Amino acid sequence: MVRVAPSMLSADFAKLAEEIKDIENCGAEVLHIDIMDGHFVPNLSFGVPIVKALRPHTKLVFDVHLMVTNPDMYVEELAKAGTTYFTFHIETVPHAHRLIQEIKKHGMKAGVSLNPSTPVSALEDIASDLDLILIMSVNPGFGGQSFISQAVNKIAKAKALLASVGNNTCEIEVDGGINADTAKVCREAGATLLVAGSAVFGAEDRKAMITAIRG
Ligand code: DX5
Ligand code: ZN
Repeated sequence: MVRVAPSMLSADFAKLAEEIKDIENCGAEVLHIDIMDGHFVPNLSFGVPIVKALRPHTKLVFDVHLMVTNPDMYVEELAKAGTTYFTFHIETVPHAHRLIQEIKKHGMKAGVSLNPSTPVSALEDIASDLDLILIMSVNPGFGGQSFISQAVNKIAKAKALLASVGNNTCEIEVDGGINADTAKVCREAGATLLVAGSAVFGAEDRKAMITAIRG
């Protein structure tokens, strides 16, 4: 079963709680929350206080995507803020194995994200420890960009890697340029969690769009 995670980055920031309630009512299962620091990516978004403030307003699973150079700094606070998936970029840390253990110790599920230029092979030695692999299908930093189709090969490679280490519970998430068409290709390649920002929040009929992406 594929789940859809609308990305809050494309929501109306002036009425976040309402926007999130709306996508929950439209059938979304997960809320994708993009934290950016202006260093790892050339943009700023929001931080932990916003995550914390939103928690009482929704039952959606919080899927936090950290595009920051020091993700280890936010483990404790994000756990307290009610995060389920804590996903950091493999490009940002020298000690990914240690950080994964830290995330799990704090009761969260550990996710690792790959930029378009980072190969799946970078995850070979941690694949059995992962709860989620996040494949970026755009260069991170902004919503509304076009899908990079090389991501589809990476989904298949991630699926094969997970099978090779006997990890059959890890999610394969794809983020960037997801719409009804690109979602179909990603599902067919093995994606289990699809992030969609502009496609969902910009849709006239959000419910229909979420249903179309889920497939
Ligand atoms: C980009 C973010 C994405 C973004 C996706 O850096 O990680 O989550 O919100 O937006 P769309 O779906 O519009 O490409
Ligand atoms: Zn994201």
